[in-house]
Amino acid sequence: MAQMNFGGVMENVVTREEFPLEKAREVLKDETIAVIGYGVQGPGQSLNLRDNGFNVIVGQRKGGKTWEKAVADGWVPGETLFDIDEACQRGTIIQYLLSDAAQIEVWPTVKKNLTPGKALYFSHGFGITYKERTGIIPPADVDVILVAPKGSGTSLRTMFLEGRGLNSSYAIFQDATGRAYDRVIALGIGVGSGYLFETTFKREVYSDLTGERGSLMGAIQGLLLAQYETLRENGHTPSEAFNETVEELTQSLMPLFAKNGMDWMYANCSTTAQRGALDWMGPFHDAIKPVMQQLYESVKTGNEAQISIDSNSQPDYREKLNEELRQLRESEMWQTAVTVRKLRPENN
Ligand SMILES: NC(=O)c1ccc[n+]([C@@H]2O[C@H](COP(=O)([O-])OP(=O)(O)OC[C@H]3O[C@@H](n4cnc5c(N)ncnc54)[C@H](OP(=O)(O)O)[C@@H]3O)[C@@H](O)[C@H]2O)c1
Repeated sequence: MAQMNFGGVMENVVTREEFPLEKAREVLKDETIAVIGYGVQGPGQSLNLRDNGFNVIVGQRKGGKTWEKAVADGWVPGETLFDIDEACQRGTIIQYLLSDAAQIEVWPTVKKNLTPGKALYFSHGFGITYKERTGIIPPADVDVILVAPKGSGTSLRTMFLEGRGLNSSYAIFQDATGRAYDRVIALGIGVGSGYLFETTFKREVYSDLTGERGSLMGAIQGLLLAQYETLRENGHTPSEAFNETVEELTQSLMPLFAKNGMDWMYANCSTTAQRGALDWMGPFHDAIKPVMQQLYESVKTGNEAQISIDSNSQPDYREKLNEELRQLRESEMWQTAVTVRKLRPENN
């Protein structure tokens, strides 16, 4: 493990140079890795593991499109593709990659197959951190570990195929065998991570729930809409409001911001933009910080987890969700987006 300096703070990270693929293969040479679930993370992680030369099987409920997708990806029923129960029986490492709600439902099947010395692996700290609410309480004689790729399973796969790697966090909740560290790092390298940084199940889920509700999705939609509405209320056309709010951000600024950082953006824009951005970043920060703190509290108390568990278990969950998504899709801002995208030269 290497110590790296992140803006003045030292952290433990593991790189592929330090823990090469050959070492990962050696650590896991006697293991059968059962990847349970073939949604988004399932395909990315299982295919990368397979291509990296590990002994992998997939566990997926039969009879649906997802089973067919696994077959189409080369998993062979009865050889490398099984129903969930059988895959859990065969696996010495169970990678639990169902949706968070399904993990609660299917837990009794997984639990009965967790014989001593096996490892239970997650890609999210949700089930374990909120175990009193989810009922996911593993036996004491198995390892409980986590590798959480910081991005979609689709990106994990495409970046692997491009010879790149998505960074992941890793954590150990329970080390029953004394091999949890080697197992978790070997799996992290095997699924195609770039570098691995250390976390705990709790910190992983707190930061993940805050991020998706905050700057990654919830807050950004709130921010963009507030600006779009203000421009529209003051007589600006949809085209102008959208271009100044979203299009310029995603098409022109984001790639530069991703490559060089926001500090570079501030140093490399017009003096007018620079003065205004420096003056207004403070008021925006001060207005948003209390909402962010409120959000973090709601995550920490388990309130956000409970809302998610309760809403997922309602019989009309899908219909209500679809209605909310329809309203967002049909809003003026995102309908304007459809037209603006069509007008992009590359789409003409
Ligand atoms: N999405 C991401 O890229 C991402 C990123 C980082 C971490 N994670 C974490 O990775 C884990 C997996 O997430 P995901 O997004 O890949 O999951 P997902 O796509 O939502 O999972 C769908 C899988 O769960 C199965 N499933 C759903 N309900 C089921 C039930 N009642 N019984 C049995 N199987 C059921 C589905 O089978 P059917 O198709 O047959 O319903 C499918 O195999 C989660 O812990 C998530 O937080 C996800």
